[in-house]
Amino acid sequence: MPEKLKIGVLTSGGDAPGMNAAIRAVVRTALTNDMEVIGIQNGYEGLINGEFRNMNERSVGGILQRGGTILLTSRSKRFMEPTGQRDAIRKMNEAGINGLIVIGGEGSMNGAHALSQQGIKVIGIPGSIDNDIWGTNIAIGTDTAMNTIMEAVDKLRDTASSHQRAFLVETMGRNSGYLAVMAAIVCGAEVALIPEVTITADEVAMAVEQAYKRGKTHAIIINAEGSNISTTELAARIDDLDVGFKTRMTILGHIQRGGSPTAYDRLLASRMGVKAVEALMDDKHGVMAGLKGKGVEFIPLVDVITNKRKVNMEYYRMAKVLAR
Ligand code: F6P
Repeated sequence: MPEKLKIGVLTSGGDAPGMNAAIRAVVRTALTNDMEVIGIQNGYEGLINGEFRNMNERSVGGILQRGGTILLTSRSKRFMEPTGQRDAIRKMNEAGINGLIVIGGEGSMNGAHALSQQGIKVIGIPGSIDNDIWGTNIAIGTDTAMNTIMEAVDKLRDTASSHQRAFLVETMGRNSGYLAVMAAIVCGAEVALIPEVTITADEVAMAVEQAYKRGKTHAIIINAEGSNISTTELAARIDDLDVGFKTRMTILGHIQRGGSPTAYDRLLASRMGVKAVEALMDDKHGVMAGLKGKGVEFIPLVDVITNKRKVNMEYYRMAKVLAR
């Protein structure tokens, strides 16, 4: 007789729209299959502290459309240490939790792998607006963040063209240019600066000047927060070089992380949540649910954390071509 499953679910790292939809899917799938579900508050920090609560159908009522995470999240330094992991495992054992679902980004998958190495049955679900997790085409939250950026830039373009200005828009992405590149395509930007490509302020200024000379009424420059030039420096240099357009800048910041998830993110989160619980039932663990082609597949966590996801440079080139 297989052991009855009592699973824990937590969200960790930067929150991403759609995490609640994933929590809801995990809880309801587990309850449907006669499991107990424990909500772990505050990510890995809460796992160490034993911040546990029983979840029922109603605990996840009315959250499908809400951004953020009802379980709260954290970036736990303590959990990176073996002592923190040991304390967390002790708390799980004391509570009788024999399966764990971790919803989060790259760092969270590292934590999930560490637990898996120590015998815990873990499944990861990728949630990150940055879309920098290897092993899935897209993570939960990325689509919503893209739509938030698109809406903001569309508004900025109205005022940019009325005043014939160049707008610099800073997107999130410390280490990944995914949001910036894709935003450049969907928002029709003149230039995208990303951490993966080094560019000088003068090269950007030249591209803006050429846009001015081609008769454009405005210019949009998307700068990923992790690029090699700060948005402020870039704006100052473009103004100094007097390229035709005067500059204004907008740092989108955490606005990109909030808001109601798009239909795409709700669906992705629901599919991944259901599949993750079903995998645990099949005694599959040490894997992450990733979107591959049209389906959810399971990728070993060791592969997820040892491979580095790269921005597809074809999209970088595409953004340039379309900026004519
Ligand atoms: O990882 C997601 C992310 O939003 C990054 O794009 C950004 O650099 C970082 O989190 C910001 O983290 P915090 O909210 O801790 O300042």
